[in-house]
Amino acid sequence: MNTFTYSYPTKVYFGEGAAAKDLPAVLAKVGKNVMLAYGGGSIKKNGVYDELMSILKNVGKNVTEFSGIMSNPTYAKVQEGAKIAKENDIDMILAVGGGSVIDCCKVISAQAKISEDLWDFETQQHGSPSEFIPMGAVVTAFGTGAEMNNGAVITHEGKMIKGALWGAFYSFAILDPAYTMTMPMKQVISGSFDALSHCMETYMGSPRETNLSDEINEACQRNIIANLRKTIKNPTDISARSELIWAAAMAENGILKIGKVTDFQAHMLEHQLGAYTDCNHGQGLAVIHPVLYRHMLPEAQAQFARLAVNVWEISSDGKNEKQLAEEFINALSDFIIEVGQPTKFSEMGIAADTDFKAIADSTVLTGGCCKKFTKDELLEVLNECV
Ligand code: NZQ
Ligand code: ZN
Repeated sequence: MNTFTYSYPTKVYFGEGAAAKDLPAVLAKVGKNVMLAYGGGSIKKNGVYDELMSILKNVGKNVTEFSGIMSNPTYAKVQEGAKIAKENDIDMILAVGGGSVIDCCKVISAQAKISEDLWDFETQQHGSPSEFIPMGAVVTAFGTGAEMNNGAVITHEGKMIKGALWGAFYSFAILDPAYTMTMPMKQVISGSFDALSHCMETYMGSPRETNLSDEINEACQRNIIANLRKTIKNPTDISARSELIWAAAMAENGILKIGKVTDFQAHMLEHQLGAYTDCNHGQGLAVIHPVLYRHMLPEAQAQFARLAVNVWEISSDGKNEKQLAEEFINALSDFIIEVGQPTKFSEMGIAADTDFKAIADSTVLTGGCCKKFTKDELLEVLNECV
């Protein structure tokens, strides 16, 4: 295990009714001006908006609304939110939604505190923001675990980059599985696959021999697979959703990453696919993963073989490591089909004449991956996904 420091700044309030129970006391400790940030309006249809608004009013807050945060949030939307936050002297941002709203607000909280352009400040001057508007998250869609980290994935449309900016950690997160009941099933599946992908991408980093972080990781993967199956079978199974919302948070709260350098090559490729096509994140990952993993097989054989046995419950009897590794990729591919995720870009509406070379060329090559991909090989991967 590598050396590490571990501490966690985000306080989690988990369970049905958590907002009504815990939010008033939390809000009592922050200033009067709260920005309520949300997406395209699902929270107005399912009652979450009304419930939160009534809590905010009851504790005497001045509420400024910032709505319309889109999936794959843009840098322009960040700037719009930062302007509103500055103009209204916002003391706290309450982000209500999935990864897109939660990410967008992380960057707003930093951008509202500096006059320079945050993208240039972080990516050109290699600066780190040090002042933030405090934030709380109310998770309505599980998968990204974005409420548990301080990285935000933002699309800069002018630069054609979907990349990470570093913002603040949330002071608190409300995880109420009942709030996820109205998630479209497509999002339940793609979010769950995203969480599974976070586990796998963490697992595939180094060190590669058995370690405690990976053993906890294997349990998370088994949990996500089992509870996605249960949720598809019975969408009102709140206990399965409780497991999924917490498993997704576990995948991103740092515990699985303790002592590890992570991989995340599939993510880097998918993010650039998103920059060029605005595709659904979890669906893009589902298409890319098996193809990328077949390219990684020689280097990743030992870890894949362990996943076959410890996660996918494949018998090792009479099989060598290579056979088990291949069976892992087959099991993953079969699961993707079983849960109804796409297996080709064409099923996601991504045109065959998309500029895949530009996507591969602009993809970050990750340091933690057991195989060092070249941009040419990433282009081969993308072409095999079409
Ligand atoms: O916008 P509304 O109307 O709220 O609808 C949303 C959106 O259309 C809907 N939704 C959310 N909760 C709902 C609901 N609909 C009905 N009932 C509910 N309770 O779901 C749709 C998708 O939401 P979105 O937030 O876009 O999805 P997700 O949570 O998958 O977030 C995706 C974004 O997160 C980034 C992705 O790249 C993408 O931009 N990621 C962030 C990560 C991080 N910060 O750690 C890690 C991930 O790897 C990922 O890259
Ligand atoms: Zn992801």
